[in-house]
This record gives sequence, C-alpha cells and structure tokens, in this order.
Amino acid sequence: MTRRSSETDFGYRRVPLDDKQALVDDVFRSVAPRYDLMNDLMSGGLHRAWKEALVAAVNPPRSERAFAVLDLAGGTGDIALRIAKAGGPGARVTVADINPQMLEVGRERARDAGYDDDVAFIEANAEALPLPDRAFDAVTIAFGIRNVPRIEAALAEAHRVLRHGGRFLCLEFSSVDVPGLDRLYELYSFNVIPVLGRAVAGDADAYRYLVESIRKFPPPDRFADMIRAAGFRRVAFQRLTGGVVALHSGWRL
Ligand SMILES: C[S@@+](CC[C@H](N)C(=O)[O-])C[C@H]1O[C@@H](n2cnc3c(N)ncnc32)[C@H](O)[C@@H]1O
Repeated sequence: MTRRSSETDFGYRRVPLDDKQALVDDVFRSVAPRYDLMNDLMSGGLHRAWKEALVAAVNPPRSERAFAVLDLAGGTGDIALRIAKAGGPGARVTVADINPQMLEVGRERARDAGYDDDVAFIEANAEALPLPDRAFDAVTIAFGIRNVPRIEAALAEAHRVLRHGGRFLCLEFSSVDVPGLDRLYELYSFNVIPVLGRAVAGDADAYRYLVESIRKFPPPDRFADMIRAAGFRRVAFQRLTGGVVALHSGWRL
C-alpha cells in the first residue's frame, strides 16, 4: 500500500501531517499538571540520570562567561533548571515549547526554585522559531523531537539558531538492543504505563500515544543521518540503559 506523503504517524495511527500538532497538544495539555510526577513513576527515577547525562554533555561553564542555551520542547523546564543549576552566573536558558500549559508549570517551578532570572520561557513551535540566527551556544531537546510533526524543519531551526562552534544535543527514547530487556521493556511499556497514566494523570490514551510514538521513532543510526542532513558535523550518539534512551550530538562547524 502506498502512503500519502502528507500523512504521518501519531503513535500507531496514520494522521494528516497538518493534524498531528493539535493531537500532540491535546496530549500535553492533559498531562501537564502531573507530567513531572509521571516521569519519576514511569522511569523509576531513571529520567533524572538520563537528563544529567545531557547536562554533563552541555557542560555549561561555571564562570561568569556568558553561555546561552536554548531548550527546545522544554515543557516544564526540567532540563533548563538542571542546566542553570550546573552552570555559573553567565548561564542563561531559554525554554521554547508550543504548549502553554506545560510552560505555565515550568514558570512556576523556576520561580519556586529562585531561577526566574536565569530561565526564560517562550511559547514557540520548534519548526519555526521566533529567534535570531546564531544566538545560542548550545541547543538541547529532551523527549521532544518525536512529538514534532516536521522533524527536519526542527533540526534545521536548531542549526540556524546555533552559533558556529555550538553544539546540538538530543535525548530521546530509542530502540532497546539487549536481548531479554527488549521483551521486558515492551511488556512494561504497553501494560504498566497506560495503567499508571490513567491512575495518576487521569489519561491512559495520552500515555499509550507516548509509548507508541517511541516505537515509531527512527532507530539511532537513522536519526543520526537526519541530524547530518540538517547540516550538523561530527554527529555521534550513545545509548543509555541498554538503548532505552539515546543521546545524539552534533556540532555547527
Ligand atoms: C515529553 S515532553 C518533554 C518535556 C521536557 N523536555 C522534559 O524532558 O521533561 C514533550 C514536549 O514537547 C512539546 N512539543 C511538542 N511539539 C512541539 C513543537 N512543535 N514545538 C515545540 N514544542 C513541542 C510538548 O508541548 C511537550 O512539552
């Protein structure tokens, strides 16, 4: 069967490309208030270690030196706060996310943590950023890229807003490559996560989408090719936790 090029995956469903963003927005509107709690419950706290690996790769200077980071699809500001805390007084993080409900949770978290001067939140589509060329030293995106309908457009925008010598880092769920663990992970993902989603966030379908979208995301070598195609150089990736997650990196050179 031939697939129409104007369609894309929304989890296991095929939907018109132009409809995907609204469906994704419904998911995150629904889960925003419980999003951070659900991350801890679903991953048994592992998401913290994965995010710390991303922050270590960003390696923000501890000094007064200005260092600007853009965190795409930054949601509730979890990555941004970690980078701001790891960096020195010159570190500034801009969170760009399309979903106002996720951003509102993030603004409140940044205020409560005393980081509202260091972390800014803007409502923006990663596919068309309202930001100038070459404005950032690093661009990060964590568990966001698989939700963006036009991944190539978002990668091109990440490249455009990075300065020469800047680094792009992407953390995303990937394909488990350890025999035995893959079966266990499959059972857990499709049986436990939607039940947790219903019990804690009141929305099993949202979490079923999140699991399905992980399975539909390209394997790490293919995603590395997409990053290269956007113009990044020295593209590399490392698998974490047996491939549950991959950390991709590329440079604008
Ligand atoms: C799974 S959450 C990740 C949040 C955060 N990065 C983290 O690691 O906790 C995915 C985020 O992607 C955002 N998103 C989806 N499509 C987007 C787009 N086109 N542009 C910007 N953000 C988008 C959603 O609103 C949501 O906040």
